[in-house]
Amino acid sequence: MRALITGVAGFIGSHLAERLLSSGATVLGVDSFTDYYAPERKRANLNGLASTEGFRFVEGNLRELELSSLTEDVDIVFHLAGQPGVRRSWGRQFEVYLNENLLTTQLLLEAVKEVEVNRFVYASSSSIYGDAERFPTPESEPPRPVSPYGVTKLAGEHLCHLYFSRFGVPTVALRYFTVFGPRQRPDMAFTRFIEAARQGSEVEIFGDGLQSRDFTFVEDAVSATVAAAEKGRPGEAYNVAGGAQATVLEVLDLLGELLRSEVAVRHLPAVPGDARHTGADTAKARRDLGYAPQTGLEAGLYKQLAASSPSQSA
Ligand code: NAD
Ligand code: UGA
Repeated sequence: MRALITGVAGFIGSHLAERLLSSGATVLGVDSFTDYYAPERKRANLNGLASTEGFRFVEGNLRELELSSLTEDVDIVFHLAGQPGVRRSWGRQFEVYLNENLLTTQLLLEAVKEVEVNRFVYASSSSIYGDAERFPTPESEPPRPVSPYGVTKLAGEHLCHLYFSRFGVPTVALRYFTVFGPRQRPDMAFTRFIEAARQGSEVEIFGDGLQSRDFTFVEDAVSATVAAAEKGRPGEAYNVAGGAQATVLEVLDLLGELLRSEVAVRHLPAVPGDARHTGADTAKARRDLGYAPQTGLEAGLYKQLAASSPSQSA
């Protein structure tokens, strides 16, 4: 496989690149090190890749690079670049979300329609559902995002489907559900909780802490992503979730057990943009992709904890 990974220096992208390279693929990775979080952290995500045979890195913004030369010699495009984070997507920030998640996706699809690729895998999100009415939520649930971020990820999915139906680009959208594990983004719950607990400061809980997520271990998300490139049905969207559903309070109990100390918490007001619960029906991914998540919440949290050195949070 000759893969192009956009957002390769990010949390999920860097794990995906490592997996593909270890299976003998060649990887062309692109990233612009946006300032959504510290670019040094993203550069460090590439540490394990830089000298790996078969890996080539291009630093640059996808809206400025010559996309035809990036896409001409690849079989699979994994489009993970984007502006993540549901809670920061309000107000003037929305422009960044529009540019990163919608405009960039459209430009890449335009470039890909001119060449023949086997799959274009798009990183979509559970946030497209908003507060779903059915749990577990199947892909057929009407999407009603509750954050501007979710609106842009959903619009990106619509663009993928449009380029599939109009131009035959073999797009597959993956709706990742709250991914965790080593190198998780610093704005996400588990990283924030671990860093606060290690510093002995209070963990901030948004709202009552009874909101729940269908947390997905990053290696499972990567397995689904690789399978989507091989077996995903063009034009389709798939839920990718771990089945490790838990509330924020349950996660903090577990973290306290793993750290063998009680975690001090402080409740802040709930933040607009947060869905109350997420929970995926993954039957479609199991059937079409052979998806079977391997790592549950406790084992995955333990791995994330072990990989985050105490000095990093000092
Ligand atoms: P991340 O921020 O760690 O990675 C995204 C990377 O894309 C960053 O390194 C960033 O610098 C890069 N990037 C952004 N815009 C770019 C541009 N114009 N040109 C080149 N590079 C650019 O985020 P992540 O958590 O790894 O998420 C990856 C993708 O998966 C995102 O599209 C996100 O919306 C989606 N997603 C993530 C989760 C999750 O739980 N982490 C869940 C659902 C969906
Ligand atoms: C995550 C990603 O950040 C999004 O990019 C992605 O699109 C989304 O998953 C998805 O599934 O589609 P989120 O579920 O908000 O979004 O993930 P976390 O930031 O890890 O938050 C999980 C829960 O913890 C949320 O309910 C949040 O309110 C809560 N939280 C988070 C806190 O209580 N305190 C914090 O400091 C951080």
